[in-house]
Amino acid sequence: MTARAVEWLNGKLRILDQSKLPWEQTFADLDDYRDVVLAIKDMRVRGAPAIGIAAAYGIALGASAIRTANKDEFLVLLNQITQAFAVSRPTAVNLFQSIDRMEKAASGEGVSEVKRALVNEAKRIHREQIAATRQLSQLGAELVKDGFTLLTHCNAGSLATAGYGTALGVIKAAKEQGKRVSVLATETRPLLQGARLTTWELKQEGIPVTLITDSMAGHFMQQRRIDCVVVGADRIAANGDVANKIGTYTLAVLASENDIPFYVAAPTSTIDRSLSSGHGIPIEERNPEEVTSIHGVCIVPEGIKAANPAFDVTPHSYVTAIITENGIAREPYAEALKLMVA
Ligand code: MRU
Repeated sequence: MTARAVEWLNGKLRILDQSKLPWEQTFADLDDYRDVVLAIKDMRVRGAPAIGIAAAYGIALGASAIRTANKDEFLVLLNQITQAFAVSRPTAVNLFQSIDRMEKAASGEGVSEVKRALVNEAKRIHREQIAATRQLSQLGAELVKDGFTLLTHCNAGSLATAGYGTALGVIKAAKEQGKRVSVLATETRPLLQGARLTTWELKQEGIPVTLITDSMAGHFMQQRRIDCVVVGADRIAANGDVANKIGTYTLAVLASENDIPFYVAAPTSTIDRSLSSGHGIPIEERNPEEVTSIHGVCIVPEGIKAANPAFDVTPHSYVTAIITENGIAREPYAEALKLMVA
């Protein structure tokens, strides 16, 4: 069992610092919402569902520290807190869904009552995500046959969801169903979530994993050494276009070229029905130093520029199926996803 990515303990938010894995397993107890915002920006907490859960608890923390009994003043200050979270990371829609839900949960009469309601709503969001990732993993595991080798990208496990996992959840559930499965994990440059986090999680689960560099994926597909690809998602548009970690689009095109199923596993909280296609999904640009250095060591000559988009968008035509807790969606996604989201 992987250590909890995020946990509400005695009125504080305990996070496992993912930037230090696998070298150190360090926890931090946060009681100031600004520290939660920073933890999300610095990717000590990362992965779409985990970001949404951490933000919800962070908003509850911020609200509990507001020192006025006047509801109108309280709401002005609460708005400043939610705005700080809204600008932390732009791509994962789970963050914005949490903010919406927390704002709605602040509708009660008195300030103390609202503070309690916000903690309860954050806990509810967390519980729902745990249940959703369990359920979608069970459903997705039906697509995995005994003896499969699955390719996954980035980290979409317990660390990324503060629950059971999405892409890794499907793989874990297939193993629980008694199937023999093995995994090829891409290292996921620049921040190496695959190398650092996915291999760490799978090792603890006793699931055989082989690490490859991102550029090796096509070779393994061509050699028929991959039975299917399963990845998570940061935002899914109404037409089924999928934003996920940079490099996902490349894998989807390669999978299509090699006739290999390409599955996306995500809770319905990752679906953004307000966007008709992936064109409107904001793509986070991160510090180029994440590309020009590895674990603090510069790997380029002085003055070399680097680009660092953190996500890309895979058109729905490359996606074989989208696995959610409410069912498995296939083309036409616009129709199928409408039925999945309440
Ligand atoms: O930049 P990160 O590490 O937060 O990106 C994470 C991903 O792209 C995951 O694949 C996605 O959030 C799905 S997590 C279940």
